[in-house]
Amino acid sequence: MRIVDLRSDTVTMPSPEMWAMLRSLENSNIGDDVEGEDPTVNELEEKAAKVIGKEAAVYVTSGTQGNLVSLLSQTNPGDEILLEELCHIYKNEVGSAARIGGLMIRTYPSNKGVPSLDQLQTLIRNKEDIHEPPTTLLSLENTHNYHGGVIIKPEVFKDMRVFSEKNNLKLHLDGARIFNAAVGLKVPVTEFTKHVDSVMFCLSKGLSCPVGSIVAGTKEFITTARRYRKMLGGGMRQAGIIASFGLIALEEKWINRLEEDHKNAELFAEKIESYDLPVKVNKPETNIVIVELLEKINISKIVTQLRKEGILSFNISKEKIRFVTHYGINEDDIKFSAHIIGNTLSKFLNR
Ligand SMILES: Cc1ncc(COP(=O)(O)O)c(C=O)c1O
Repeated sequence: MRIVDLRSDTVTMPSPEMWAMLRSLENSNIGDDVEGEDPTVNELEEKAAKVIGKEAAVYVTSGTQGNLVSLLSQTNPGDEILLEELCHIYKNEVGSAARIGGLMIRTYPSNKGVPSLDQLQTLIRNKEDIHEPPTTLLSLENTHNYHGGVIIKPEVFKDMRVFSEKNNLKLHLDGARIFNAAVGLKVPVTEFTKHVDSVMFCLSKGLSCPVGSIVAGTKEFITTARRYRKMLGGGMRQAGIIASFGLIALEEKWINRLEEDHKNAELFAEKIESYDLPVKVNKPETNIVIVELLEKINISKIVTQLRKEGILSFNISKEKIRFVTHYGINEDDIKFSAHIIGNTLSKFLNR
């Protein structure tokens, strides 16, 4: 049976160039990374720092570990941090900031990931008052997953930088998909990252590596981040074997390939809309399409039925199904899956 897996860009397989890179490795290319002796990891970290525009970088096991390492490195237990109310760190990282970091989490509402500065200001604690925990970090997510892969523009980052400096906050970016944002707006990725103190981005999503993320920032921050990575079990010894994929992933050509995913998402959204069903489809800015059902219906039954027909997706709430385009999905897969989804939705919605 033909399967089109639109659950996430995390399901991607490595490209032929990545497999070739892996096969080309010899013992001399790998070493003990905990001792800083793995040449491939060192090369990847240097390359990542350069591409993302920061002094230094560290290879971590996952986006979740990278975000936590960033928070731990820039806060103290008992601090309060500001997270957007639908962000991945708050919703999907097992409350690690609280459990492991001892951090108080305060969420802020937003318009598609962009907070109002006035509202944000009201959330900052009074540092002079001994009753209150200090607010020490603000986090942004770009592109924003649960808001449908929307892009937060560089101008917003600039405002957030000014705000953070004024309030003595560290500014962290969960940039799991920051290259989608850069490619989507056709701007250098550094237009976003130059404004933040720390950034995490994933190699294992649209960039299609099998595993791994990067945390980047100043040299001093990365030295601390390495200690926390070790504490969290992220010291990976001969990690060059898995890190090697990232050397291909960070080539400009490979980053720009994301544009294909964005075009496919646009086509997918257009096709679903053409069925004229009681659904709301976001106009995708990058590689995520959210289909919101406007009639009350058991959404898991729809997702299960689609799975039976070979189309894999995730319901992200009682009303919304998420579809993500990625490497390995081509235009024909889009047409094929949109056709099945359109028909299935029509049946469920009695059209
Ligand atoms: C926005 C965002 N941040 C962080 C992560 C965590 O990445 P990982 O799955 O590698 O832990 C994800 C994963 O989907 C994500 O979408």
